[in-house]
Amino acid sequence: MEQAAIWRDDFPALTQEVNNRPLVYLDSAASAQKPLSVIESVSQFYRHEYAAVHRGIHTLSAQATEHMELVRDKVCTFINASQREEIIFVNGTTHGINLIANTFGKQHLAQGDEIIISEMEHHANIVPWQMLEHTLGIKVVVWQIENDGSLCLDKLRALITSRTRLLAIAHVSNVLGTVNPIQEITSLAHQFGVKVLVDGAQAIMHQHVDVQALNCDFYVFSGHKLYGPTGIGVLYGKKALLDTLPPWEGGGSMIQNVDLEHGTSYNRVPWRFEAGSPNVAGIIGLGQAIDYLLNIGFEQIHQYETMLVNYLYKQLQSIPSVHIYGPEVRAGVVAFNLGELHAFDVGSFLDKYGVAIRTGHHCAQPLMKHYGVTSMCRASIAIYNTQQDIDTLVTSLKRIQTLLG
Ligand code: ALA
Repeated sequence: MEQAAIWRDDFPALTQEVNNRPLVYLDSAASAQKPLSVIESVSQFYRHEYAAVHRGIHTLSAQATEHMELVRDKVCTFINASQREEIIFVNGTTHGINLIANTFGKQHLAQGDEIIISEMEHHANIVPWQMLEHTLGIKVVVWQIENDGSLCLDKLRALITSRTRLLAIAHVSNVLGTVNPIQEITSLAHQFGVKVLVDGAQAIMHQHVDVQALNCDFYVFSGHKLYGPTGIGVLYGKKALLDTLPPWEGGGSMIQNVDLEHGTSYNRVPWRFEAGSPNVAGIIGLGQAIDYLLNIGFEQIHQYETMLVNYLYKQLQSIPSVHIYGPEVRAGVVAFNLGELHAFDVGSFLDKYGVAIRTGHHCAQPLMKHYGVTSMCRASIAIYNTQQDIDTLVTSLKRIQTLLG
């Protein structure tokens, strides 16, 4: 049996029909489907184990707290952080980046300082920094991409000045699938004392991420792209650096002591950054998703997905009117346009055939501008996809081309 067919059976959503056709789900870069073990772990928590964490001495509360903190350990090992205090639970990648913008920004940036971002960033790794331009008077400097969708390190070197404080960069582009050489980028940035934040939203599900080997200062990812629940994500930060950051969101759990006369003292890292009731069900589901992936093993995942994404690329390339964007070597996604057809029309027709892809600007309008388009189609793969899924996509695209082209 084809390897993915075994994994595919773990995902109940994939057995349904959409528009009277078997669902072909090629939109995992937007959000991945969930294996039954993740769904059941969340259900089990709500059915039998539910209680608020960090707030009660009763049994259920203590158990839920312990469970949540065990997942912190699990994430720590998963990304090879050096200590559990480096793992902060956030709502997702966007929340994690905003947290750093609002804390690192406040503590370490002053008027005239510079942050470098690349031209291929998702809006989540652009807008929070642009907001600091308005509030702090800093400058966002853009590292332009090459036409093949890669980044040139010499160009980065030329952009770094004595005012550069941070480089915020995607590990993998959500549109082009470019895998950026983070280790080399970090090493270059650190030569100039520049800190590095990595948006790992599109990388974490495709490869083993080792934050110590990457030597990045911050790494952010979302649970829902990692086959886990929505509304949960992780912000990793080097402990010594996190210790220098002030709190951002205020509320319960992030305090040590609150006094109406003498003010508030704050909790230590990571709880200082986890105000309010956390998404415990999400955290538990995330822990289960990590177990699920580790059980398969990243070597096998990487091998299978590389075969699949190469097949996707080659099959799309075989349609004469398809224009593909980005490098040949890529992770997880292929963005394209079909002749002069608008991506929304292509996406709507594909949906009629039961094929789900993402269309539009992909929250990367500057990248669209670079290629002179307003939208693209994007097919993305996950461990549960098969070559047959890709064949269905290609057959459907050919039909659409005949109908509309
Ligand atoms: N950032 C997600 C995507 O690229 C939603 O589709």
